[in-house]
Amino acid sequence: MDKFAVLGCGVVGSGVVELFEKNKALIEKRSGRKLEMAYILDLRDFPDRPYGSKVVKSIDTILADPEVTVVAECMGGIEPAFTFVKACLEAGKSVATSNKELVAAKGDILLQTAKDHHCNFFFEASVGGAIPIIRPLHKCLAANDFSAIAGILNGTTNFILGKMITADMDFASALALAQEKGYAEKDPTADVEGHDACRKICILSSLAFGKHVYPESVHTKGIREVELKDVKLCMQLGYAIKLIARVQRLENGKILPTVMPMAVADDNLLSDVNGVYNAVMVRGDGISKAMFYGRGAGKFPTASAVLGDMIEEVQLSDTIPAQTWENVGSADFIEDFSQFSAERYFRTSAANAEALTEVFGEGVSEILTMDDHESVFTVAREMNVTEVEDAVKALSAKGIRVLAEYPILQP
Ligand code: HSE
Repeated sequence: MDKFAVLGCGVVGSGVVELFEKNKALIEKRSGRKLEMAYILDLRDFPDRPYGSKVVKSIDTILADPEVTVVAECMGGIEPAFTFVKACLEAGKSVATSNKELVAAKGDILLQTAKDHHCNFFFEASVGGAIPIIRPLHKCLAANDFSAIAGILNGTTNFILGKMITADMDFASALALAQEKGYAEKDPTADVEGHDACRKICILSSLAFGKHVYPESVHTKGIREVELKDVKLCMQLGYAIKLIARVQRLENGKILPTVMPMAVADDNLLSDVNGVYNAVMVRGDGISKAMFYGRGAGKFPTASAVLGDMIEEVQLSDTIPAQTWENVGSADFIEDFSQFSAERYFRTSAANAEALTEVFGEGVSEILTMDDHESVFTVAREMNVTEVEDAVKALSAKGIRVLAEYPILQP
């Protein structure tokens, strides 16, 4: 008999408890173990719920029970989650978490703690909700040398951008609806400003390239400044604006992780990822590319991933070697954002074809002029950040303002 505990009985934690109780027979058959949900750690009481009697108020109760072999951490945030998870691992109890903030900030420490105590720290639910992506990266695709990962990793922002287009909803109403559905973080700033997607690309980058990538090293821009006007104009030009989390390995061997709204061409599969769905495109030398798709947020999709980790953990008798990375003590392996290059979409205050061609040279597409004399066009040549800044200055000298600019995601 393996007992398990759930830390935090919010959206995800209650999902773990409920999905376990619903599918207990299946889970036991597949894991080959008898399982018992023994404790729920939460500050609140749940007298009306069937699992109300399992609630405990102190982590010590869980730590003191030697029959608890697996713990699901669904509290969110760094503290007290970090202290509790570390203590569980030090007691030899494996942990499965949905907490991307914790993994992105402390994954290196917790992975090492698990190794030191012959247990496991798993985090499939921390990226992409229900989508299996962590396990495929270090297991099924373990034979690949990875060159890039690009994805839509935040359901809330994808839902908001979608509602802005399809329902003409304003930003605030779409955000409120995402919160009502349980997709958004408690503090929606993390979703809207791109921090949540940043934590997720940190985790994928760390796993794919073997070195801990901290959120502070990632250029991160959210969707707050995305205007409905550009969303619609991009559509006319054959692109969808999406919040893209991406990491690429450059020719100099460094990696460049980024989170920002990008224009995604209609023939790119990521442009069709809508609502709360997430997708991750992985490039490797063996596979060329592979795409993973599914529900990226929500109670049961996330609980499904947590329980999947717990099912594997109860079957393991030692730490698995593949799912890990190291802290190399510097960020020298991460390229500066100034080196980020891409083709671009521009909206400018005037449609002076001669001036635009003079500034951008080859590659300027047909210029679409609107009733208000603004213009939109793409530049089909890679421009790095400095080149874009220089172009903005050169246009300004000609009396033309750049009103919006989006990098175009390469296929
Ligand atoms: N707030 C997150 C999202 C939840 O919207 O994707 C899942 O990590």
